[in-house]
Amino acid sequence: MVSAYIPNARRYDGMMQYRRCGQSGVMLPKLSLGFWHNFGQNTPDEQSRSIVRAAFDCGITHFDLANNYGPEPGAAEEFMGRVLHDDFLHHRDELFISTKAAYDMWDGPYGSWASRKHLMASLDQSLSRMRLDYVDLFYCHRYDPNTPLQETLQALVDIVRSGKALYVGLSRWPSEAAQVGYDYLRRHDVPCLIYQGRLNLFDQAVKQQMREAAEVGVGFISFSPLAQGLLTDRYLHGIPKDSRMAHDPRFLRPDALTPAVQSRIAALNDIAAQRGEALATMALAWILHHEEVTSVLVGASSPEQLKRNLACLASAPFTAEELQAIDNVIKQQ
Ligand SMILES: NC(=O)c1ccc[n+]([C@@H]2O[C@H](COP(=O)([O-])OP(=O)(O)OC[C@H]3O[C@@H](n4cnc5c(N)ncnc54)[C@H](OP(=O)(O)O)[C@@H]3O)[C@@H](O)[C@H]2O)c1
Repeated sequence: MVSAYIPNARRYDGMMQYRRCGQSGVMLPKLSLGFWHNFGQNTPDEQSRSIVRAAFDCGITHFDLANNYGPEPGAAEEFMGRVLHDDFLHHRDELFISTKAAYDMWDGPYGSWASRKHLMASLDQSLSRMRLDYVDLFYCHRYDPNTPLQETLQALVDIVRSGKALYVGLSRWPSEAAQVGYDYLRRHDVPCLIYQGRLNLFDQAVKQQMREAAEVGVGFISFSPLAQGLLTDRYLHGIPKDSRMAHDPRFLRPDALTPAVQSRIAALNDIAAQRGEALATMALAWILHHEEVTSVLVGASSPEQLKRNLACLASAPFTAEELQAIDNVIKQQ
């Protein structure tokens, strides 16, 4: 296929801002694009493609995948392989592509968790699906309590030494194990680049781990920054037919939209309106006002959504009163 896509020549002219990832040499865009939803077999290729193109056109250089993103597991990486080949063949070095392993992927005892066997085999499969020689970043997607930490961490070291990933990261590891990980990786000259955890207005439990990462020069990227869409105007008046909750409720069930959650969304929406911005904009800006945050990993079901989210880069700094008002809403039962 000859691509009809010509990237925006002005993509680095200031639309995006970049932050250094911990104490590494890597700069990441303040907004990165996640492929968990909207890039599987339940989304037409052209729609997914339009989101990726829109992202690249405004300077989003970091795309985040995992072996199991779909549906079906592997489908998002296969899509990535197609779009990279068709649209980005000459732009590989402008892209920072991550993938992950450790969640259930294939049958049998080696298809999940964080043994050396699973991590190595899964990365090989990911590279083949994405038609890549290497990924920029490979994550251990979750902590495995039954595999010796040393085995998992040495596999990550060896993956970087093999050239199949340039950097490694950890996601969803508890604090103590993550700190052992940072130390092991640093001692083996493969410092952990980044920790990926869920930080949004509704879920701030990871903040302490974010600070711990920063203390040892590890970056932090927040996933589900909009609480899968709850922290937007999407659900202000019920459940729209085209929303994630309505058409793909695997991880966002309608019963998450309790009256208490709805009233908090409305109250946060009022604060955002007083700031003259959309709730999604305020929710993203609130994450970025934490200096430990390298990047915010958004999802989008359309190019328009993604472009609207860029508004957070021009958001006014929060006043102490606004932060207090937000806190009061969050603490409401
Ligand atoms: N490490 C991990 O374990 C882990 C776990 C989860 C996610 N992640 C990563 O984080 C990424 C993002 O997660 P997420 O998709 O849950 O992120 P999110 O940004 O919290 O939610 C994205 C959803 O919010 C809605 N949305 C986005 N912008 C909007 C706007 N301007 N106005 C109204 N609605 C808007 C869309 O929902 P609709 O579809 O309803 O339009 C979109 O699909 C994933 O793709 C993945 O890369 C990692």
